[in-house]
Amino acid sequence: MADLAGAAQPSHDHILILDFGSQVTQLIARRVRESGVYCEIWPFNQADDARIRSFNPKGIILSGGPRSVLDEDAPSAPSVVFEMGVPVFGICYGQQTMVQQLGGRVEGLEKSSGGREFGRAFVDVIDHSSITAGVWDKGAHEQVWMSHGDHVADLPEGFRVIAKSEGAPYAFIADTGRKFYGVQFHPEVVHTLNGKDLLKNFTHEVCGCSGDWTMQSFREESIAKIRAQVGDAKVICGLSGGVDSSVTAVLLHEAIGDQLTCIYVDTGLMRAGESEQVVSLFRDHYNIPLIHEDASEKFLSGLEGTADPEMKRKLIGTMFIEVFENCAKRVGGAKFLAQGTLYPDVIESVSFTGGPSVTIKSHHNVGGLPEKMDLKLVEPMRELFKDEVRDLGRALGMPEEFIRRHPFPGPGLAIRMPGEITAEKLEILRKADTVYLDEIKKSGLYDEIWQAFAVLLPVRSVGVMGDSRTYEYVCALRAVTSTDGMTADYYPFEHEFLSRVSTRLINEVQGINRVTYDITSKPPGTIEWE
Ligand code: XMP
Repeated sequence: MADLAGAAQPSHDHILILDFGSQVTQLIARRVRESGVYCEIWPFNQADDARIRSFNPKGIILSGGPRSVLDEDAPSAPSVVFEMGVPVFGICYGQQTMVQQLGGRVEGLEKSSGGREFGRAFVDVIDHSSITAGVWDKGAHEQVWMSHGDHVADLPEGFRVIAKSEGAPYAFIADTGRKFYGVQFHPEVVHTLNGKDLLKNFTHEVCGCSGDWTMQSFREESIAKIRAQVGDAKVICGLSGGVDSSVTAVLLHEAIGDQLTCIYVDTGLMRAGESEQVVSLFRDHYNIPLIHEDASEKFLSGLEGTADPEMKRKLIGTMFIEVFENCAKRVGGAKFLAQGTLYPDVIESVSFTGGPSVTIKSHHNVGGLPEKMDLKLVEPMRELFKDEVRDLGRALGMPEEFIRRHPFPGPGLAIRMPGEITAEKLEILRKADTVYLDEIKKSGLYDEIWQAFAVLLPVRSVGVMGDSRTYEYVCALRAVTSTDGMTADYYPFEHEFLSRVSTRLINEVQGINRVTYDITSKPPGTIEWE
Protein backbone atom coordinates (compact mmCIF):
# COMPACT_ATOMS: atom_id res chain seq x y z
CA MET A 1 0.00 0.00 0.00
CA ALA A 2 1.21 3.50 -0.76
CA ASP A 3 2.44 5.55 2.15
CA LEU A 4 -0.66 7.52 3.01
CA ALA A 5 0.09 8.26 6.64
CA GLY A 6 3.51 9.71 5.86
CA ALA A 7 1.88 12.50 3.92
CA ALA A 8 0.48 14.33 6.95
CA GLN A 9 1.08 18.03 7.63
CA PRO A 10 2.36 17.91 11.21
CA SER A 11 1.74 21.50 12.21
CA HIS A 12 -1.85 21.61 10.98
CA ASP A 13 -5.16 20.12 12.04
CA HIS A 14 -6.06 16.89 10.27
CA ILE A 15 -9.42 15.54 9.20
CA LEU A 16 -9.58 11.88 8.18
CA ILE A 17 -12.04 10.78 5.50
CA LEU A 18 -12.72 7.06 5.41
CA ASP A 19 -13.79 6.05 1.92
CA PHE A 20 -16.54 3.51 1.39
CA GLY A 21 -16.32 3.80 -2.39
CA SER A 22 -18.64 6.68 -3.28
CA GLN A 23 -18.12 8.37 -6.66
CA VAL A 24 -17.97 11.72 -4.87
CA THR A 25 -15.62 11.03 -1.94
CA GLN A 26 -12.95 13.24 -3.51
CA LEU A 27 -15.41 16.12 -3.37
CA ILE A 28 -15.56 15.82 0.43
CA ALA A 29 -11.80 16.32 0.53
CA ARG A 30 -12.08 19.24 -1.86
CA ARG A 31 -14.66 21.00 0.30
CA VAL A 32 -12.70 20.40 3.52
CA ARG A 33 -9.48 21.70 1.98
CA GLU A 34 -11.23 24.72 0.50
CA SER A 35 -12.02 25.71 4.09
CA GLY A 36 -8.31 25.66 4.93
CA VAL A 37 -8.22 22.28 6.67
CA TYR A 38 -5.82 19.52 5.65
CA CYS A 39 -7.48 16.13 5.13
CA GLU A 40 -6.71 12.76 3.67
CA ILE A 41 -8.86 10.02 2.16
CA TRP A 42 -8.11 6.48 3.28
CA PRO A 43 -9.94 3.38 2.05
CA PHE A 44 -12.00 2.14 5.04
CA ASN A 45 -10.37 -1.29 4.93
CA GLN A 46 -6.80 -0.06 4.88
CA ALA A 47 -6.97 2.01 8.03
CA ASP A 48 -6.06 0.07 11.15
CA ASP A 49 -6.54 1.38 14.68
CA ALA A 50 -2.91 2.31 15.29
CA ARG A 51 -2.66 4.14 12.01
CA ILE A 52 -5.84 6.14 12.63
CA ARG A 53 -4.70 7.10 16.13
CA SER A 54 -1.26 8.15 14.94
CA PHE A 55 -2.77 10.35 12.22
CA ASN A 56 -4.32 12.22 15.15
CA PRO A 57 -7.42 13.50 13.36
CA LYS A 58 -9.51 16.27 14.89
CA GLY A 59 -12.52 14.71 13.26
CA ILE A 60 -13.47 11.80 11.01
CA ILE A 61 -15.82 11.80 8.04
CA LEU A 62 -17.33 8.55 6.79
CA SER A 63 -18.07 8.74 3.06
CA GLY A 64 -20.95 7.38 1.04
CA GLY A 65 -20.63 4.10 -0.82
CA PRO A 66 -22.34 1.81 -3.30
CA ARG A 67 -23.08 -1.09 -0.91
CA SER A 68 -25.97 -1.75 1.47
CA VAL A 69 -25.23 -2.02 5.19
CA LEU A 70 -27.79 -4.84 5.17
CA ASP A 71 -25.50 -7.06 3.07
CA GLU A 72 -23.81 -9.84 4.98
CA ASP A 73 -20.26 -8.67 4.29
CA ALA A 74 -21.10 -4.96 4.35
CA PRO A 75 -18.14 -2.64 4.94
CA SER A 76 -18.02 -0.97 8.34
CA ALA A 77 -15.90 1.65 10.06
CA PRO A 78 -13.09 0.44 12.35
CA SER A 79 -14.56 0.63 15.88
CA VAL A 80 -11.73 2.93 17.00
CA VAL A 81 -13.48 5.68 15.02
CA PHE A 82 -16.20 5.82 17.67
CA GLU A 83 -13.86 5.33 20.63
CA MET A 84 -11.34 8.11 20.17
CA GLY A 85 -13.53 10.89 21.50
CA VAL A 86 -13.30 12.85 18.23
CA PRO A 87 -16.32 14.12 16.26
CA VAL A 88 -17.61 11.85 13.49
CA PHE A 89 -19.69 12.89 10.48
CA GLY A 90 -21.32 10.06 8.52
CA ILE A 91 -22.49 10.83 4.99
CA CYS A 92 -25.08 8.58 3.28
CA TYR A 93 -23.58 5.07 3.61
CA GLY A 94 -21.34 6.56 6.31
CA GLN A 95 -24.42 7.61 8.28
CA GLN A 96 -26.02 4.20 7.85
CA THR A 97 -23.00 2.24 9.01
CA MET A 98 -22.53 4.59 11.97
CA VAL A 99 -26.16 4.07 13.00
CA GLN A 100 -25.93 0.31 12.63
CA GLN A 101 -22.60 0.06 14.44
CA LEU A 102 -23.94 2.15 17.34
CA GLY A 103 -27.05 0.04 17.84
CA GLY A 104 -29.65 1.71 15.58
CA ARG A 105 -31.42 0.17 12.59
CA VAL A 106 -31.29 0.67 8.83
CA GLU A 107 -34.11 -0.41 6.53
CA GLY A 108 -33.96 -1.61 2.95
CA LEU A 109 -36.06 -0.25 0.15
CA GLU A 110 -38.78 -2.90 0.22
CA LYS A 111 -39.57 -2.29 3.91
CA SER A 112 -39.16 1.46 4.02
CA SER A 113 -42.10 3.82 4.22
CA GLY A 114 -40.44 6.36 1.97
CA GLY A 115 -39.00 5.80 -1.49
CA ARG A 116 -35.56 5.90 -3.02
CA GLU A 117 -34.26 9.37 -3.57
CA PHE A 118 -31.85 10.15 -6.38
CA GLY A 119 -30.83 13.67 -7.27
CA ARG A 120 -32.41 16.84 -5.99
CA ALA A 121 -34.54 16.53 -2.85
CA PHE A 122 -35.72 18.77 -0.03
CA VAL A 123 -35.36 18.49 3.72
CA ASP A 124 -37.38 20.14 6.48
CA VAL A 125 -35.17 21.45 9.23
CA ILE A 126 -36.88 20.64 12.53
CA ASP A 127 -34.19 21.36 15.12
CA HIS A 128 -30.98 23.29 15.76
CA SER A 129 -27.45 21.83 15.65
CA SER A 130 -23.86 23.07 15.59
CA ILE A 131 -23.54 21.97 11.97
CA THR A 132 -26.61 23.86 10.74
CA ALA A 133 -25.94 26.95 12.89
CA GLY A 134 -25.89 30.08 10.74
CA VAL A 135 -26.57 27.98 7.61
CA TRP A 136 -30.03 26.43 7.97
CA ASP A 137 -32.68 27.87 10.29
CA LYS A 138 -35.15 25.72 12.17
CA GLY A 139 -38.33 25.51 10.08
CA ALA A 140 -36.52 26.00 6.76
CA HIS A 141 -37.07 23.86 3.65
CA GLU A 142 -33.66 23.25 2.08
CA GLN A 143 -32.43 21.75 -1.17
CA VAL A 144 -30.06 18.79 -0.90
CA TRP A 145 -28.69 16.08 -3.19
CA MET A 146 -29.63 12.49 -2.34
CA SER A 147 -28.65 9.14 -3.75
CA HIS A 148 -29.91 6.29 -1.60
CA GLY A 149 -32.12 3.23 -1.43
CA ASP A 150 -31.74 2.22 2.25
CA HIS A 151 -32.34 4.65 5.06
CA VAL A 152 -32.07 4.91 8.83
CA ALA A 153 -35.18 3.55 10.58
CA ASP A 154 -34.28 3.61 14.30
CA LEU A 155 -31.77 5.89 15.94
CA PRO A 156 -29.11 4.70 18.35
CA GLU A 157 -29.32 6.07 21.88
CA GLY A 158 -28.33 9.69 22.26
CA PHE A 159 -29.31 10.78 18.72
CA ARG A 160 -32.06 13.21 17.72
CA VAL A 161 -33.41 14.32 14.36
CA ILE A 162 -32.30 17.66 12.90
CA ALA A 163 -33.94 17.38 9.45
CA LYS A 164 -36.15 14.98 7.53
CA SER A 165 -37.13 14.45 3.91
CA GLU A 166 -39.89 12.53 2.20
CA GLY A 167 -37.74 9.46 1.63
CA ALA A 168 -35.58 9.76 4.74
CA PRO A 169 -37.25 10.45 8.10
CA TYR A 170 -33.76 10.73 9.59
CA ALA A 171 -32.14 12.80 6.84
CA PHE A 172 -29.97 14.62 9.39
CA ILE A 173 -29.26 13.28 12.86
CA ALA A 174 -27.06 14.38 15.73
CA ASP A 175 -25.74 13.10 19.03
CA THR A 176 -24.37 16.35 20.39
CA GLY A 177 -22.98 14.71 23.52
CA ARG A 178 -20.59 12.50 21.58
CA LYS A 179 -20.40 14.92 18.63
CA PHE A 180 -21.57 12.26 16.17
CA TYR A 181 -23.52 13.53 13.17
CA GLY A 182 -25.08 11.79 10.20
CA VAL A 183 -26.72 12.93 6.98
CA GLN A 184 -28.52 10.88 4.37
CA PHE A 185 -27.79 13.50 1.69
CA HIS A 186 -24.45 14.55 0.20
CA PRO A 187 -23.26 17.94 1.52
CA GLU A 188 -20.11 17.71 -0.64
CA VAL A 189 -22.10 18.00 -3.90
CA VAL A 190 -22.86 21.51 -5.16
CA HIS A 191 -26.55 20.67 -5.60
CA THR A 192 -26.82 20.58 -1.81
CA LEU A 193 -27.09 24.33 -1.44
CA ASN A 194 -24.81 25.51 1.38
CA GLY A 195 -23.44 21.98 1.78
CA LYS A 196 -19.96 23.43 1.86
CA ASP A 197 -20.92 25.59 4.85
CA LEU A 198 -22.33 22.57 6.66
CA LEU A 199 -19.00 20.77 6.22
CA LYS A 200 -17.16 23.87 7.33
CA ASN A 201 -19.25 24.04 10.49
CA PHE A 202 -18.30 20.42 11.16
CA THR A 203 -14.56 20.98 10.72
CA HIS A 204 -14.35 24.45 12.28
CA GLU A 205 -17.11 24.62 14.90
CA VAL A 206 -17.52 20.99 15.92
CA CYS A 207 -13.93 19.74 15.48
CA GLY A 208 -12.31 23.09 16.29
CA CYS A 209 -10.00 23.20 13.26
CA SER A 210 -8.38 26.57 12.75
CA GLY A 211 -8.40 26.62 8.94
CA ASP A 212 -4.75 27.65 8.63
CA TRP A 213 -3.78 25.24 5.85
CA THR A 214 -2.97 27.47 2.87
CA MET A 215 -0.84 27.06 -0.21
CA GLN A 216 1.77 29.36 1.30
CA SER A 217 2.07 27.13 4.35
CA PHE A 218 2.11 24.05 2.14
CA ARG A 219 4.88 25.57 0.08
CA GLU A 220 7.06 26.37 3.09
CA GLU A 221 6.57 22.96 4.65
CA SER A 222 7.23 21.18 1.36
CA ILE A 223 10.48 23.02 0.92
CA ALA A 224 11.62 21.95 4.38
CA LYS A 225 10.57 18.35 3.66
CA ILE A 226 12.36 18.25 0.30
CA ARG A 227 15.58 19.56 1.89
CA ALA A 228 15.37 16.97 4.64
CA GLN A 229 14.73 14.19 2.13
CA VAL A 230 17.42 14.87 -0.46
CA GLY A 231 20.19 16.45 1.62
CA ASP A 232 22.94 17.50 -0.77
CA ALA A 233 22.19 14.87 -3.44
CA LYS A 234 21.47 15.67 -7.07
CA VAL A 235 17.89 15.46 -8.33
CA ILE A 236 16.55 15.17 -11.87
CA CYS A 237 13.08 16.13 -12.98
CA GLY A 238 11.47 15.29 -16.31
CA LEU A 239 9.57 18.25 -17.73
CA SER A 240 6.68 17.73 -20.09
CA GLY A 241 5.58 21.32 -20.41
CA GLY A 242 2.46 20.51 -18.38
CA VAL A 243 1.48 22.18 -15.13
CA ASP A 244 2.26 19.28 -12.79
CA SER A 245 5.87 18.74 -13.77
CA SER A 246 6.51 22.48 -14.12
CA VAL A 247 5.25 23.29 -10.62
CA THR A 248 7.22 20.35 -9.20
CA ALA A 249 10.38 21.68 -10.84
CA VAL A 250 9.93 25.25 -9.62
CA LEU A 251 9.17 24.09 -6.07
CA LEU A 252 12.24 21.86 -6.09
CA HIS A 253 14.41 24.60 -7.43
CA GLU A 254 13.29 26.86 -4.63
CA ALA A 255 14.17 24.11 -2.14
CA ILE A 256 17.52 22.88 -3.48
CA GLY A 257 18.67 25.32 -6.18
CA ASP A 258 21.27 23.97 -8.57
CA GLN A 259 21.15 20.45 -7.16
CA LEU A 260 18.20 20.14 -9.54
CA THR A 261 18.54 19.48 -13.26
CA CYS A 262 15.46 19.39 -15.44
CA ILE A 263 15.25 17.22 -18.52
CA TYR A 264 12.96 18.20 -21.36
CA VAL A 265 12.69 15.71 -24.19
CA ASP A 266 11.46 17.20 -27.45
CA THR A 267 9.80 14.23 -29.11
CA GLY A 268 8.98 16.14 -32.27
CA LEU A 269 5.36 15.50 -31.35
CA MET A 270 4.93 18.80 -29.53
CA ARG A 271 2.64 21.69 -30.38
CA ALA A 272 4.00 24.72 -32.19
CA GLY A 273 6.17 26.81 -29.88
CA GLU A 274 5.98 24.31 -27.00
CA SER A 275 9.69 23.64 -26.68
CA GLU A 276 10.60 27.30 -26.91
CA GLN A 277 8.14 28.17 -24.13
CA VAL A 278 9.44 25.48 -21.78
CA VAL A 279 13.04 26.37 -22.42
CA SER A 280 12.44 30.06 -21.97
CA LEU A 281 10.51 29.60 -18.72
CA PHE A 282 13.01 27.29 -17.10
CA ARG A 283 16.34 28.31 -18.51
CA ASP A 284 15.82 32.03 -18.97
CA HIS A 285 13.14 32.98 -16.46
CA TYR A 286 14.05 30.71 -13.54
CA ASN A 287 17.62 29.97 -14.47
CA ILE A 288 17.13 26.28 -13.70
CA PRO A 289 19.73 23.94 -15.22
CA LEU A 290 17.94 22.29 -18.12
CA ILE A 291 18.88 19.62 -20.60
CA HIS A 292 16.86 20.25 -23.75
CA GLU A 293 17.15 17.08 -25.77
CA ASP A 294 15.97 17.24 -29.34
CA ALA A 295 15.01 13.63 -30.04
CA SER A 296 12.52 14.37 -32.79
CA GLU A 297 14.32 12.37 -35.45
CA LYS A 298 14.55 9.32 -33.25
CA PHE A 299 10.83 9.46 -32.48
CA LEU A 300 9.71 10.08 -36.05
CA SER A 301 11.80 7.27 -37.49
CA GLY A 302 10.84 4.97 -34.60
CA LEU A 303 7.16 5.56 -35.31
CA GLU A 304 7.38 5.18 -39.05
CA GLY A 305 4.73 2.86 -40.45
CA THR A 306 2.90 2.49 -37.11
CA ALA A 307 -0.83 3.21 -37.15
CA ASP A 308 -2.11 1.23 -34.17
CA PRO A 309 -2.83 3.55 -31.20
CA GLU A 310 -1.55 1.21 -28.49
CA MET A 311 1.58 0.43 -30.48
CA LYS A 312 2.22 4.15 -30.90
CA ARG A 313 1.87 4.70 -27.15
CA LYS A 314 4.17 1.79 -26.30
CA LEU A 315 6.86 2.80 -28.79
CA ILE A 316 6.79 6.38 -27.54
CA GLY A 317 7.01 5.23 -23.90
CA THR A 318 10.02 3.03 -24.65
CA MET A 319 11.85 5.65 -26.69
CA PHE A 320 11.17 8.26 -24.04
CA ILE A 321 12.79 6.08 -21.38
CA GLU A 322 15.84 5.49 -23.57
CA VAL A 323 16.36 9.20 -24.18
CA PHE A 324 15.66 10.10 -20.57
CA GLU A 325 18.11 7.51 -19.24
CA ASN A 326 20.70 8.75 -21.60
CA CYS A 327 20.27 12.34 -20.44
CA ALA A 328 20.19 11.28 -16.79
CA LYS A 329 23.66 9.74 -17.18
CA ARG A 330 24.92 13.18 -18.08
CA VAL A 331 23.76 14.43 -14.69
CA GLY A 332 26.33 12.25 -12.97
CA GLY A 333 25.39 10.88 -9.57
CA ALA A 334 21.72 11.92 -9.45
CA LYS A 335 20.08 9.97 -6.63
CA PHE A 336 16.51 11.25 -6.89
CA LEU A 337 13.86 11.58 -9.53
CA ALA A 338 11.20 14.24 -8.97
CA GLN A 339 7.70 13.55 -10.29
CA GLY A 340 4.48 15.51 -10.40
CA THR A 341 2.33 12.71 -8.96
CA LEU A 342 -1.00 14.10 -7.72
CA TYR A 343 -3.35 12.99 -4.95
CA PRO A 344 -5.94 11.42 -7.28
CA ASP A 345 -3.16 9.11 -8.60
CA VAL A 346 -2.29 8.13 -5.03
CA ILE A 347 -5.93 7.51 -4.11
CA GLU A 348 -6.48 5.51 -7.27
CA SER A 349 -3.49 3.31 -6.59
CA VAL A 350 -4.71 2.38 -3.08
CA SER A 351 -8.48 2.44 -3.62
CA PHE A 352 -10.14 -0.69 -2.25
CA THR A 353 -12.29 -0.93 -5.31
CA GLY A 354 -9.16 -0.61 -7.45
CA GLY A 355 -8.64 1.42 -10.59
CA PRO A 356 -10.26 0.55 -13.88
CA SER A 357 -9.76 -3.14 -14.57
CA VAL A 358 -9.57 -2.78 -18.33
CA THR A 359 -6.74 -0.92 -19.99
CA ILE A 360 -8.44 1.69 -22.13
CA LYS A 361 -5.18 3.39 -23.05
CA SER A 362 -1.63 2.87 -21.84
CA HIS A 363 -0.92 6.29 -20.42
CA HIS A 364 2.61 7.36 -20.78
CA ASN A 365 4.41 9.41 -18.19
CA VAL A 366 7.66 9.10 -16.31
CA GLY A 367 6.05 6.68 -13.82
CA GLY A 368 7.80 3.61 -15.19
CA LEU A 369 11.28 4.99 -14.71
CA PRO A 370 12.33 4.68 -11.08
CA GLU A 371 12.47 0.89 -10.86
CA LYS A 372 14.60 0.72 -13.98
CA MET A 373 16.79 3.60 -12.98
CA ASP A 374 17.30 2.86 -9.34
CA LEU A 375 16.43 6.40 -8.35
CA LYS A 376 14.50 7.37 -5.26
CA LEU A 377 11.33 9.37 -5.78
CA VAL A 378 10.60 12.92 -4.72
CA GLU A 379 6.88 13.60 -5.08
CA PRO A 380 6.13 16.87 -3.32
CA MET A 381 2.61 17.16 -4.71
CA ARG A 382 1.26 13.74 -3.88
CA GLU A 383 -1.15 15.38 -1.42
CA LEU A 384 -2.60 17.88 -3.89
CA PHE A 385 -5.47 18.01 -6.33
CA LYS A 386 -5.02 19.52 -9.80
CA ASP A 387 -6.37 22.95 -9.01
CA GLU A 388 -4.39 23.05 -5.76
CA VAL A 389 -1.32 22.50 -7.92
CA ARG A 390 -2.34 25.54 -9.90
CA ASP A 391 -2.70 27.49 -6.63
CA LEU A 392 0.74 26.30 -5.57
CA GLY A 393 2.13 27.49 -8.90
CA ARG A 394 0.60 30.91 -8.18
CA ALA A 395 2.08 30.89 -4.66
CA LEU A 396 5.45 30.24 -6.33
CA GLY A 397 4.93 33.23 -8.60
CA MET A 398 4.74 31.25 -11.85
CA PRO A 399 3.29 33.07 -14.87
CA GLU A 400 -0.49 32.76 -15.00
CA GLU A 401 -0.33 31.84 -18.66
CA PHE A 402 1.69 28.77 -17.80
CA ILE A 403 -0.47 27.76 -14.87
CA ARG A 404 -3.71 27.86 -16.81
CA ARG A 405 -2.48 25.82 -19.75
CA HIS A 406 -4.68 22.98 -20.90
CA PRO A 407 -3.34 19.49 -20.20
CA PHE A 408 -1.22 18.00 -22.97
CA PRO A 409 -0.68 14.22 -23.14
CA GLY A 410 2.78 12.64 -22.95
CA PRO A 411 2.51 11.04 -26.42
CA GLY A 412 1.69 14.47 -27.82
CA LEU A 413 0.34 14.97 -31.32
CA ALA A 414 0.95 11.30 -32.15
CA ILE A 415 -2.40 10.44 -30.55
CA ARG A 416 -4.18 13.30 -32.32
CA MET A 417 -3.40 11.86 -35.70
CA PRO A 418 -5.12 8.51 -36.27
CA GLY A 419 -3.11 6.44 -38.72
CA GLU A 420 0.52 6.84 -39.66
CA ILE A 421 2.57 9.75 -38.40
CA THR A 422 4.52 11.76 -40.92
CA ALA A 423 6.42 15.03 -40.71
CA GLU A 424 4.07 16.52 -43.29
CA LYS A 425 0.94 15.64 -41.32
CA LEU A 426 2.51 16.88 -38.08
CA GLU A 427 3.15 20.22 -39.72
CA ILE A 428 -0.48 20.50 -40.89
CA LEU A 429 -1.78 19.54 -37.45
CA ARG A 430 0.48 22.05 -35.68
CA LYS A 431 -0.80 24.86 -37.88
CA ALA A 432 -4.43 23.83 -37.43
CA ASP A 433 -4.02 23.57 -33.66
CA THR A 434 -2.48 27.03 -33.49
CA VAL A 435 -5.31 28.64 -35.46
CA TYR A 436 -7.98 26.88 -33.40
CA LEU A 437 -6.45 27.84 -30.06
CA ASP A 438 -5.84 31.36 -31.24
CA GLU A 439 -9.57 31.76 -31.95
CA ILE A 440 -10.49 30.21 -28.59
CA LYS A 441 -8.20 32.63 -26.77
CA LYS A 442 -9.42 35.62 -28.74
CA SER A 443 -13.00 34.73 -27.86
CA GLY A 444 -12.10 34.56 -24.16
CA LEU A 445 -13.13 30.91 -23.94
CA TYR A 446 -9.77 29.31 -23.09
CA ASP A 447 -10.30 29.19 -19.32
CA GLU A 448 -13.85 27.87 -19.62
CA ILE A 449 -12.59 24.84 -21.50
CA TRP A 450 -10.69 21.96 -19.88
CA GLN A 451 -8.91 21.02 -23.07
CA ALA A 452 -9.20 21.94 -26.74
CA PHE A 453 -7.23 20.65 -29.71
CA ALA A 454 -7.35 19.76 -33.37
CA VAL A 455 -7.18 16.21 -34.71
CA LEU A 456 -5.99 15.36 -38.21
CA LEU A 457 -8.02 12.51 -39.68
CA PRO A 458 -6.48 9.96 -42.03
CA VAL A 459 -9.11 10.57 -44.69
CA ARG A 460 -9.17 12.96 -47.61
CA SER A 461 -12.32 14.57 -48.88
CA VAL A 462 -13.22 16.32 -52.10
CA GLY A 463 -13.84 20.05 -52.06
CA VAL A 464 -13.81 23.06 -54.31
CA MET A 465 -11.74 26.20 -53.82
CA GLY A 466 -11.93 28.95 -56.40
CA ASP A 467 -12.63 27.03 -59.55
CA SER A 468 -10.50 24.05 -58.66
CA ARG A 469 -11.18 20.69 -57.16
CA THR A 470 -9.38 19.94 -53.88
CA TYR A 471 -8.68 16.57 -52.31
CA GLU A 472 -7.28 17.09 -48.84
CA TYR A 473 -7.37 16.05 -45.19
CA VAL A 474 -10.29 16.38 -42.78
CA CYS A 475 -9.64 18.17 -39.51
CA ALA A 476 -11.75 17.40 -36.43
CA LEU A 477 -11.98 19.91 -33.60
CA ARG A 478 -12.35 18.81 -29.99
CA ALA A 479 -13.15 20.92 -26.93
CA VAL A 480 -14.36 19.55 -23.61
CA THR A 481 -15.31 20.69 -20.15
CA SER A 482 -14.32 18.48 -17.25
CA THR A 483 -13.22 18.65 -13.63
CA ASP A 484 -10.64 15.90 -13.62
CA GLY A 485 -10.45 14.42 -17.11
CA MET A 486 -12.26 11.27 -15.95
CA THR A 487 -15.57 12.36 -17.45
CA ALA A 488 -16.13 15.15 -19.94
CA ASP A 489 -18.75 16.98 -21.97
CA TYR A 490 -18.17 18.55 -25.35
CA TYR A 491 -18.10 22.33 -25.23
CA PRO A 492 -21.21 23.97 -26.76
CA PHE A 493 -19.59 26.54 -29.07
CA GLU A 494 -21.81 29.08 -30.86
CA HIS A 495 -22.24 28.24 -34.55
CA GLU A 496 -20.70 31.54 -35.46
CA PHE A 497 -17.50 30.63 -33.63
CA LEU A 498 -17.29 27.27 -35.40
CA SER A 499 -17.84 28.91 -38.77
CA ARG A 500 -15.07 31.39 -38.10
CA VAL A 501 -12.59 28.68 -37.12
CA SER A 502 -13.57 26.56 -40.11
CA THR A 503 -13.06 29.44 -42.54
CA ARG A 504 -9.69 30.30 -41.06
CA LEU A 505 -8.49 26.69 -41.06
CA ILE A 506 -9.37 26.13 -44.70
CA ASN A 507 -7.95 29.46 -45.79
CA GLU A 508 -4.78 29.38 -43.74
CA VAL A 509 -3.79 25.74 -43.39
CA GLN A 510 -2.75 24.10 -46.59
CA GLY A 511 -3.70 20.43 -46.63
CA ILE A 512 -7.13 20.74 -44.96
CA ASN A 513 -10.35 21.24 -46.88
CA ARG A 514 -13.01 20.10 -44.42
CA VAL A 515 -13.64 20.72 -40.72
CA THR A 516 -15.89 18.80 -38.31
CA TYR A 517 -16.70 19.31 -34.62
CA ASP A 518 -16.60 16.33 -32.27
CA ILE A 519 -19.75 16.26 -30.09
CA THR A 520 -18.99 13.07 -28.14
CA SER A 521 -18.88 13.17 -24.36
CA LYS A 522 -16.74 10.92 -22.15
CA PRO A 523 -17.98 8.27 -21.63
CA PRO A 524 -18.68 6.84 -24.18
CA GLY A 525 -15.85 8.63 -26.02
CA THR A 526 -12.49 9.52 -24.51
CA ILE A 527 -11.01 13.00 -24.63
CA GLU A 528 -8.14 12.16 -26.96
CA TRP A 529 -8.93 10.26 -30.15
CA GLU A 530 -6.42 7.47 -29.53
P1 XMP B 1 -8.55 10.35 -22.30
O1 XMP B 1 -8.20 10.43 -23.75
O2 XMP B 1 -8.10 9.08 -21.67
O3 XMP B 1 -7.72 11.51 -21.62
O4 XMP B 1 -9.99 10.64 -22.03
C1 XMP B 1 -7.92 11.98 -20.30
C2 XMP B 1 -6.87 13.04 -20.02
O5 XMP B 1 -5.57 12.44 -19.99
C3 XMP B 1 -4.74 13.00 -20.98
N1 XMP B 1 -3.94 11.89 -21.53
C4 XMP B 1 -2.67 11.66 -21.21
N2 XMP B 1 -1.81 12.34 -20.41
N3 XMP B 1 -0.11 10.79 -20.92
C5 XMP B 1 -0.53 11.90 -20.29
O6 XMP B 1 0.29 12.53 -19.60
C6 XMP B 1 -0.91 10.05 -21.72
O7 XMP B 1 -0.51 9.03 -22.28
C7 XMP B 1 -2.26 10.52 -21.89
N4 XMP B 1 -3.32 10.07 -22.61
C8 XMP B 1 -4.34 10.94 -22.38
C9 XMP B 1 -5.67 13.61 -22.00
O8 XMP B 1 -5.02 14.63 -22.74
C10 XMP B 1 -6.78 14.11 -21.11
O9 XMP B 1 -6.43 15.33 -20.47
